[in-house]
Amino acid sequence: MKILVVGGGGREHAIIKSLKKNPAAEKIYALPGNAGMLGDCECVAIGAKDIEGIVDFAVKNEIDFAVVAPDDPLVLGAVDALNEKGIKCFGPNKAAAIIEGSKVFSKNLMKKYGIPTAAYEVFTNPEEAEAYIQKSDTFPIVIKADGLALGKGVIIAMTKDEALEAIRSIMCDKIFGASGSNIVIEEFLTGPEVSVLAFTDGKTMVPMVSSMDHKRAGDNDTGLNTGGMGTIAPNPCYTEDMAAQCMKEIFLPTMDAMNKEGRTFKGCLYFGLMLTPKGPKVIEYNCRFGDPETQVVLPLLESDLLTIMQAVADETLTEDMVKFSKGSACCIVKASKGYPQKYDTGFELKINEAELAKRNATVFVAGAKLGGDDGKTVVTAGGRVLGVTARAESLTEAIDKAYEAAEFVHFDNEYFRKDIGARAKKWFTESM
Ligand code: AMP
Ligand code: GLY
Repeated sequence: MKILVVGGGGREHAIIKSLKKNPAAEKIYALPGNAGMLGDCECVAIGAKDIEGIVDFAVKNEIDFAVVAPDDPLVLGAVDALNEKGIKCFGPNKAAAIIEGSKVFSKNLMKKYGIPTAAYEVFTNPEEAEAYIQKSDTFPIVIKADGLALGKGVIIAMTKDEALEAIRSIMCDKIFGASGSNIVIEEFLTGPEVSVLAFTDGKTMVPMVSSMDHKRAGDNDTGLNTGGMGTIAPNPCYTEDMAAQCMKEIFLPTMDAMNKEGRTFKGCLYFGLMLTPKGPKVIEYNCRFGDPETQVVLPLLESDLLTIMQAVADETLTEDMVKFSKGSACCIVKASKGYPQKYDTGFELKINEAELAKRNATVFVAGAKLGGDDGKTVVTAGGRVLGVTARAESLTEAIDKAYEAAEFVHFDNEYFRKDIGARAKKWFTESM
């Protein structure tokens, strides 16, 4: 089979490494991929948002199966365009991808179908939003841009003044671009956060092992929000009882709601949950695998990813197709110092594969290109450069191994958090 993966980050590298385990995957192309993946696939310089370019490439190269991983091409309709040419895909069509593409849509869906989420109001003009805030007396309050904003379209306003400022900057100054034309203002929730990715073909919903992201740039959850500085799986806060409750109150109702709306979701549905004192609530839906959640979830998958993805596309998914190991995984993201703001790139990546193997660890590269004096050296090319994932029997061991392994992966100007999994470990030990 010839397989195409749209996207170019660490998540796509993890997907490709998993797909590669199936001997039927003769050839894998990444569009655009990155230089750190070259040992695992062929990278083609076509951007993930270039839908026409992707379809042309797929047709010319007789692609048998495509995996569209990032939000942008999904929301733009890449799956619809590939399907039109007879190419089977893993990923939701445009009608279903709106579950991530519009927060107004997803909030209204949850309200209509009684799926637990934060109370909210939608505003289409800044004056009404400001008047609403003037009358509010409960802070913090959460203000979200409607559309895709690289996962950054959320402001938690601690005071009335901050909330008014947030409305102006999103709706008038357009700090998140056009995605801020409409906003959602919602209740501030508290509790541990859990990410649950689930395979679904619209008939069956099979959740994967749970995980926990670390979104802030600095240790102890300080600093700016980022795309994710590290992950652990499973998430110790997510008990079996909680999983059963989420299945009944959130996962299945969401699948049914999308079917009833004529927007059957096929692919990986990401549930960003908060375990509040009043029960689990949805913070956000994503229409795709999470990044860097995928880098801890897929290494724990014992079943064959390609088989599952094909079953999702064919609507023949069954629960017994998806088996996870009982172990744990931890991913440490190494970023360029200065991320998520200004940073320098172009530094050589040095990876000691032998030492990684000794620790059951793998590197998933997110931001690299060919450069250096010879033009053939793999050098850094982004904010988040790579993730080092280690697997082990226990969470504690996985965290220790990941940090040990991270010592054998280097580039100048690197920065990483020293406390990935620390809070989870504390919760876990306290609850024992
Ligand atoms: P989102 O992009 O919707 O995932 O939001 C980014 C982050 O903001 C989440 O991971 C939460 O930590 C936080 N957040 C979003 N909505 C709320 C809320 N209603 N209450 C508290 N925190 C929230
Ligand atoms: N890690 C959060 C996301 O993928 O949106």
